[in-house]
Amino acid sequence: MKLELINKRLLTCAKAVKNAETPFAADVGTDHGYLAAYLVQNGICRHVWACDINPRPLSFAKKTIEEYGLSDSVTAVLSNGLDAFPEPPENGQFSIICAGMGGELIADIISRCSWAAECRLILQPMTKADVLRKWLYENGFSVTAETACEDGNFVYSVMTAEKKTPDYECSERYLTAGFVTADTKDGRKYLAMRAARLRRAGEGMLSSADEEKCAEGKRLTALAERLKNESEGIL
Ligand SMILES: C[S@@+](CC[C@H](N)C(=O)[O-])C[C@H]1O[C@@H](n2cnc3c(N)ncnc32)[C@H](O)[C@@H]1O
Repeated sequence: MKLELINKRLLTCAKAVKNAETPFAADVGTDHGYLAAYLVQNGICRHVWACDINPRPLSFAKKTIEEYGLSDSVTAVLSNGLDAFPEPPENGQFSIICAGMGGELIADIISRCSWAAECRLILQPMTKADVLRKWLYENGFSVTAETACEDGNFVYSVMTAEKKTPDYECSERYLTAGFVTADTKDGRKYLAMRAARLRRAGEGMLSSADEEKCAEGKRLTALAERLKNESEGIL
C-alpha cells in the first residue's frame, strides 16, 4: 500500500531531499513518520531513521511503518535530536531533516550533532527562521537552496544547507527572508508576509522617544517596504 502525502509543506521537504540526492536520511521530530515513509516509498532514500524525542509520536511512526510494511527501510528511534547517534548510522551520503519545529530548537539539534557537517541539512522552521539563518551563518553553514510553500493559512520556508563558508553577507534581507524570491506565487506570499510582520514591528517603534529605537523602527519599515516591493515585482 502506498502512502498518499497531501501535506504541501512535507511534500516541499521531500522535494528538497530528492534534490539533495542522498540515499540515507534522518527525519528528526518525525511524529507520524509520514515523510520518512514517503521518502522510501518513492525511491528518494534507501533508508530513513525516523527519530522523535517523545514515545507517543514515535508510536505513531511505528504504526505507519507497520501499516505500510516498511520495517526494512524505516527505523523508528527514540532520540533527543540525533543524540542516539554519536556517529552516522550508515556510511554514505546523508540528509538530516528537521521539519515542523522552531528555528531555535532546530539550531540546537544541529549544533549537538558532531557529524552534521558531513550532511545535507533540510530545515523547515515553524518559527524563528531568522534565528536559524543567523546560527547557520555564524557556524559556517551555507544555505544553498530555499523554497517557500503555502500550506493552510501560513507560508513556510524550506532551506537546504551544508557546511561551507557562506559567500554572502549576513544581511537583514538574508535574516528576514533568506533566499526566497518572488519567482513563485508562494515566494511572493512569503515575502509579503515577512514585510507585513516587519512593518508592524517597525511602526511600533517609530513614535518612541528613544532615538535608537526610533532609528531601528525606520530601518525595519524601510526593509519592509523593500520586501513588499520585491513581492509585487517592483524590485
Ligand atoms: C509538530 S511535530 C512535526 C512533525 C513533522 N516533522 C512535521 O513537520 O509535520 C514536532 C515533533 O518533534 C518532536 N520533537 C520535539 N523536540 C524534539 C527533539 N529535541 N528531538 C526529536 N524530536 C523532537 C515532537 O515530539 C513532535 O513529534
